[in-house]
Amino acid sequence: MQISFVAPSDITAGAWVVGAGEGGALLPAAARADKASGGALSRALKVSRFTGKSGQMLEVLAPAGAKASRLLLVGLGKPESLDEKGLETLGAQIAGRLYAAGETAASLEIDVPKNAKVKKAELAAHLAFGAKLKSYAFDKYRTKNLEEFEKKLKTVRIVSAEVAAAKKAYAGLDAVAEGIFLARDLVNEPPNILYPEEFARRAKQALSKLGVKVEVLGEAEMKKRGFGALVGVGQGSARESQLVVMQWNGGTSSKNKKSGKPIALVGKGVCFDSGGLSIKVGAGMQGMKGDMAGAACVTGTILALATRKARVNVVGVIGLVENMPDGGAFRPDDVLTSLSGQTIEVLNTDAEGRLVLADALTYTQRRFAPKAVIDLATLTGAIVQTLGFEHAGVFSNNDDLVKHIQAAGRHTGERVWRLPLDPFYDKMIRSKIADMKNIGGGNSGSITAAQFLLRFIEKDTPWAHLDIAGVAWQDGEQKPTIPSWGTGWGVRLLNRLMKEHYEA
Ligand code: BES
Ligand code: MN
Ligand code: ZN
Repeated sequence: MQISFVAPSDITAGAWVVGAGEGGALLPAAARADKASGGALSRALKVSRFTGKSGQMLEVLAPAGAKASRLLLVGLGKPESLDEKGLETLGAQIAGRLYAAGETAASLEIDVPKNAKVKKAELAAHLAFGAKLKSYAFDKYRTKNLEEFEKKLKTVRIVSAEVAAAKKAYAGLDAVAEGIFLARDLVNEPPNILYPEEFARRAKQALSKLGVKVEVLGEAEMKKRGFGALVGVGQGSARESQLVVMQWNGGTSSKNKKSGKPIALVGKGVCFDSGGLSIKVGAGMQGMKGDMAGAACVTGTILALATRKARVNVVGVIGLVENMPDGGAFRPDDVLTSLSGQTIEVLNTDAEGRLVLADALTYTQRRFAPKAVIDLATLTGAIVQTLGFEHAGVFSNNDDLVKHIQAAGRHTGERVWRLPLDPFYDKMIRSKIADMKNIGGGNSGSITAAQFLLRFIEKDTPWAHLDIAGVAWQDGEQKPTIPSWGTGWGVRLLNRLMKEHYEA
């Protein structure tokens, strides 16, 4: 999708998309479209049930008098509640409607309603961002009926009285969209294609050219260095495990020098989770190509930050493995020695994500001494039962960090809900023979998983764990801005968090 920002002028082709407030009153551009079409819009309004509620649409095809192929009137809802997130949803809804219609070009000329809090440039940029997010498709494995799936809307012009400011506001958002698309691509890619080494190659390919330093540790190297937990998980796979370290050093100001301590993002990258010898049942195994969504989010976020040259030092560390059963696989009852030196009794090989994260967390803290660590993982089925698809679970040893993450979540629509950590839950992972076991009892599974991770946090490093099993992977029909299964969840939130709290 080609997006441009243009100053108001006559619309000579394609769809002319205009707005109305709640109650149905035509905004200035809509009034002009109505006039240009000899009152076609107001006549259509009279015979419709359009009331201007947010997302409502009214379409007039081939309007006599106007050169546009169609007029599309869009309801903006209550002006006070029009925010960035709402505008993105509207942009996506408009794009979705035009895709369905088979339209090839559109001009969005949506005025800021009276009493709205958003500025003109913001409105333009966030409408564009929503449309762009909707343009995502993952069609590379289709060979038939390509015409049917083609997204024909190729050119979108955003008409704004403040072109320069809108372009500037959009530049950063476009970088975020590219990060989200990378994350979605990685999640949607099937596991026979995207295994640990291939993931590492793609990260390198996407990020090196942007000035991100990308290092890859292979399995032999990790074994030598004592990554016993991570390597243990990958041991039953024909594919080699990998650890990818991505450094973006964009910090410049005195507060945030290039040499300053980074924020660390750590991702679970289980490229396929069969459960290992504690094998999953058929239905539970479907979709487990997406068990690397945490790693995908970290990679996409680094891409977004580097693309928009964010003035911040960030390091992304992702542990990439495949959890498979075979004669060499780790077993229930095995004891693994983690990189931290702590021993872990494995009682279920399907609780593998925490093992991968344990070593990645230790490595990250010891090498980088980060200001804060945030990990993202599709860690537990229990979080899906608890919070469904609307919130990720957040666990943390630091109230301020949680507050900042929650605020970023509310702002971007990627919402999180805090769940408790407590010594009582920690008792549930005591082992009879080792320092800990990798599962709790039957209950509070997301919490015992987080308690397990907490045991690998050193010196009270501010840490937050996001359990994204519910939000990373869902039916794209449920949300207008998400057209695929992989959502790219977290890129927007982390980008916002960096901008608000860590950038110079
Ligand atoms: N990758 C799964 C968690 C998951 C479940 C993600 C459903 C997405 C959708 C994780 O590795 C896992 O298998 N967790 C187990 C833990 C249990 C064995 C303690 C679970 O949640 O059942
Ligand atoms: Mn598992
Ligand atoms: Zn898993």
